[in-house]
Amino acid sequence: MSLDAEKRYAADAAAELIESGTRVGLGTGTTVACLLESIARRGVIARYVATSPETADAARSLGLVVEAFDALDELDLAIDGADQIAPDGWLIKGRGGAHLREKIVAASAKRFVVIGDSSKPVTSLHAPVPLELHAFGLQSTLRELGDVTLRAVGLSPDGGVLADYHGDIGVPQELAERLSSIPGVSAHGLFAPEMVSEFIVATGKTLSRRTLGGQL
Ligand code: A5P
Repeated sequence: MSLDAEKRYAADAAAELIESGTRVGLGTGTTVACLLESIARRGVIARYVATSPETADAARSLGLVVEAFDALDELDLAIDGADQIAPDGWLIKGRGGAHLREKIVAASAKRFVVIGDSSKPVTSLHAPVPLELHAFGLQSTLRELGDVTLRAVGLSPDGGVLADYHGDIGVPQELAERLSSIPGVSAHGLFAPEMVSEFIVATGKTLSRRTLGGQL
């Protein structure tokens, strides 16, 4: 089975979690693109917030009702992909540059479900770790960060500069704390296991579902 087929398989399983009338956060990326199609096929009527203009446009084109985040406030469920999933549940997200909004949406959801294909689980996290940086004082922030490259893309929808950290990850918690302590860093792509309620990973036609923290 191809990775695309696995994404669709995991996406179908996650779409089943959406109940009518609930408030749902939609992540960003190719796996979420499959999720949007699964939701549209299922025909469940819910209220959605999107983590990127790309997701908002794609969702609307499939007939999903996407609202402003502030209109929904707390979310019942958020579903998103990941770049890497470590055995202890740490994630790297943000290859698509949407990790700031993805983290805000995931943190506001009562239940955060991460979906992926068989390429996503890793034995240990490795660089790059996506970053979103404040434009103000960028050179100073880059100096403090160390091994970072800027992406050759425009600013994020929130005016942030997208970049990648290439240094050692070591203990993810320690790196996450260091990155969070640098004032010029708006968001980093390390997501702690405590944020995640469930992982749904497809390997061929086998779905592995794993629960860690969160409220289930
Ligand atoms: C978007 O910024 C990312 O966090 C994505 O969620 C992550 O990169 C997974 O993307 P794919 O589903 O395209 O692999």
